[in-house]
Amino acid sequence: MLTSTKVMLQMAQEGDYAVGAFNVYNMEGVLAVVAAAEQEFAPAILQLHPASLRHGGKPLFEMCLAAARSSFIPMSVHLDHSASDEDIRLALDAGLTSIMADGSTMAYDANVAFTGGVSALVHTKDGTVEAELGRLSGTEDDLTVPENLSKFTDPDQAADFVKRTGIDALAVCIGNVHGTYRSEPSLDFSRLQAIEASVDVPLVLHGASGLSEETIGRSIAFGVRKFNVNTEVRQAYMSSLSDSLGQTPQPDLTSVMGSAIEAMTAVVALKIQLFGSTNKG
Ligand code: 13P
Repeated sequence: MLTSTKVMLQMAQEGDYAVGAFNVYNMEGVLAVVAAAEQEFAPAILQLHPASLRHGGKPLFEMCLAAARSSFIPMSVHLDHSASDEDIRLALDAGLTSIMADGSTMAYDANVAFTGGVSALVHTKDGTVEAELGRLSGTEDDLTVPENLSKFTDPDQAADFVKRTGIDALAVCIGNVHGTYRSEPSLDFSRLQAIEASVDVPLVLHGASGLSEETIGRSIAFGVRKFNVNTEVRQAYMSSLSDSLGQTPQPDLTSVMGSAIEAMTAVVALKIQLFGSTNKG
């Protein structure tokens, strides 16, 4: 069933677990997330990055919404990392009510003004707004932020940001990166603890591919209620496609797509288990 992200995160807060938000690009991705969430009886979020929005447009939004509506577990559909008023309007017009306003590349006051404006607009539809404070490094689709431009979230500024923008969830930068970690991920948990103490909204951790069970557990203990996962699911998809294409005779297309769905479903199910959301649907 199509559910509000805000409600899902509130329930996660009460139950001390986190919800997985998985980036999807096409129908195979959507089917894999739904299959894993149903198999685990877990709430889950279908998430669209602006690059996949440009690729799939409104039909992709509509497919995500239809999949969420027809599932027997709570699911929401979320626009990830949007700095564009046009994309946000397109998403809202298509029926999405969960938006990440990403003003993290802007100066602080501009980020506050942009995010506050999105917040006011989305709240007229009783929707959910996530925003990022600090700046995450790494690569996601066509967006790369070099390490020297990354910025950790300041706990005091976070309190001011949440108050002035009225957001429903805060994405934190504590050493997490988008894409592949070049060395063992090392998150700044004392900073996360200070952020949790200074704001009263659920926290979001981007770049959850490659995090160990221990790191995920500690993040949940310090208030992370939403983990964003893209790279590991995408890699499972690509390597399944490459295996299928290497076979002789070449399998038919439905079987190529079926194997890709199975490979992605396995990754998503494992993440759901690590996030503690199994049986929370
Ligand atoms: P990864 O690609 O590192 O899993 O990060 C996904 C993400 O944060 C989407 O916003």
